[in-house]
Amino acid sequence: MSTRIIIDTDPGVDDALTFLLALASPEIQLEALTTVQGNVTLEKATRNALSVLELANASHIPVAQGCSHPLVKSPHNSGEVIHGWSGMGQSNLPEPKSKIVDSHAIDYLIERFLAEPNEISLFTIGPLTNVALAIRKEPRIVSAIRELVIMGGAIRSGGNITPLAEFNIHEDPHAAYVVFHSGIPITLIPLDATYKCLLTSADVARLNKINSPIARFVRDATADYMAFYKQYEGFDGCALHDPLTLAAIIAPELLTLAEHYVSVDISGGVSTGKTFADFMKVWKKPPNMRVALDVKGREFVELFVERIMSLRGA
Ligand code: RIB
Ligand code: CA
Repeated sequence: MSTRIIIDTDPGVDDALTFLLALASPEIQLEALTTVQGNVTLEKATRNALSVLELANASHIPVAQGCSHPLVKSPHNSGEVIHGWSGMGQSNLPEPKSKIVDSHAIDYLIERFLAEPNEISLFTIGPLTNVALAIRKEPRIVSAIRELVIMGGAIRSGGNITPLAEFNIHEDPHAAYVVFHSGIPITLIPLDATYKCLLTSADVARLNKINSPIARFVRDATADYMAFYKQYEGFDGCALHDPLTLAAIIAPELLTLAEHYVSVDISGGVSTGKTFADFMKVWKKPPNMRVALDVKGREFVELFVERIMSLRGA
């Protein structure tokens, strides 16, 4: 029995790799994508979502467009340094033929989850703006979402957009605060785990031993991403931040999960967007999420490569 999921996303290279991994995994039924601004503008994010589904012969999957701005902050749109001007690195996907659905992503999420309560899980791999507004518009969605898996945060790890904060949370910290304290059952996949999942150039070369448009897309899309990591972080490879969320379904045994009370700084100072866990339970508050503080990273990357090799693109 596969797990039905909706992915809320700001594609983004690693977002695109997540769609491909979901489509290559029999344990997952990808129900829909909802787009949000983050790595790139909303328009580019939506185009990229449609284009990658088309590349993977999955244009039947609905795409609903969401929010173009965070709740309070101005959009950062800094992701183009890592994800390229288009958001898809050096890949050159054709203009998508498919179109978005009429509903705004907020309404689409509310419709879908209220129509089938506790049947569908939500995976967020971008800023949490859409989800926070869906919760505020229709609080009943909180008890209708089967599970919420979030790529975001830096618990013991340093940040990647400021020395303290991770990009998705920092891009809309107020939305993250609403979602973290909503009562939805949350699994958080922070940088503490995702930075241990490096897709290397050797992995990409292995992937391209097969002559497939998907393998070529992974090579072209990750080129800038890898160059960025080499220049700024000294890594040979790029972190599979977003794809690691799917380990919660396809390989939970690779994750080291623990329940903690976690919140996010929205005070507006230097640590805005910083996520923190009350490890010492000094606030005596019950845990509000499971947190992946470690992962068998190499095993996850091997699983990712193996699954992507099985995909046949357009
Ligand atoms: O910090 C990593 C996250 O920020 C990923 O979701 C990546 O796509 C970017 O959005
Ligand atoms: Ca993302």
